[in-house]
Amino acid sequence: MAELLKVENLRAGYGEAVVLNDISLSLGEGETLALLGRNGTGKTTLMDTLAGATRQHGGQIFLGGQPLHTLPSHERAAAGIGWVPQERNIFKSLTVHENLTAVQRPGRKGPGGRESRPWTPERVYEMFPRLAERKTNLGTQLSGGEQQMLAVGRALVLNPRLLLLDEPLEGLAPIIVEELLRAIARITREEGLSAIIVEQHPQAILRISHRAVVLDHGNVVHASAADTLQQDPELLDRLLGVARKL
Ligand SMILES: Nc1ncnc2c1ncn2[C@@H]1O[C@H](COP(=O)(O)OP(=O)(O)O)[C@@H](O)[C@H]1O
Ligand SMILES: [Mg+2]
Repeated sequence: MAELLKVENLRAGYGEAVVLNDISLSLGEGETLALLGRNGTGKTTLMDTLAGATRQHGGQIFLGGQPLHTLPSHERAAAGIGWVPQERNIFKSLTVHENLTAVQRPGRKGPGGRESRPWTPERVYEMFPRLAERKTNLGTQLSGGEQQMLAVGRALVLNPRLLLLDEPLEGLAPIIVEELLRAIARITREEGLSAIIVEQHPQAILRISHRAVVLDHGNVVHASAADTLQQDPELLDRLLGVARKL
């Protein structure tokens, strides 16, 4: 499988503070990575560093062989990074439809020069029928779940090569969680879009991921196939620092 993302000896943080000490990882084309770890271990900092929104102190990031670490944040979307930050960046004063058309970019050639079916606002509405019903509503009028769907939709219409989802299910009602999980599984498993998904509650995400990485104190403390962690709840609990009830 062709390699899509390669991160080597990444050091990054905020100002002089180094949060990520020495991160190396890679992800194949079409793969989904579950990025796990307790609160404050650097998951968001890693996602934001891939998107170019932190201070990078060292190391390298390549997407499809192209160096990203030399690009400013606003050029990384064009390079193929579709970033859905933890705080769901939608334009609250624009309608749902305007949010999607404001950032839309044409499709790009897939692996081997094949044109993959581009993401358009219409395809986003197909994926999230709730958004189709809210086309002319302003961002301020959306529920938390609808805002998250719109944030994902905005990343999709950039036609990224790699989707970064930072706790996409956080704070949402169970029925919406199910809907979003189904959509994310379709986007990654069926459409073959590569993704990194940060999640506090790992089981649901491990089920739809190929690879898993666990961070602790800004370091990778575990990297394996997602199945390995899913089939070993004790190891998972230990890595996530969860006290196991006897
Ligand atoms: N904007 C910031 N400025 C300074 N330190 C930060 C900032 N954001 C996060 N941190 C620190 O970086 C560490 C990792 O945080 P974060 O990446 O948000 O963790 P996670 O997403 O795994 O919960 C924490 O110690 C946190 O306090
Ligand atoms: Mg976080």
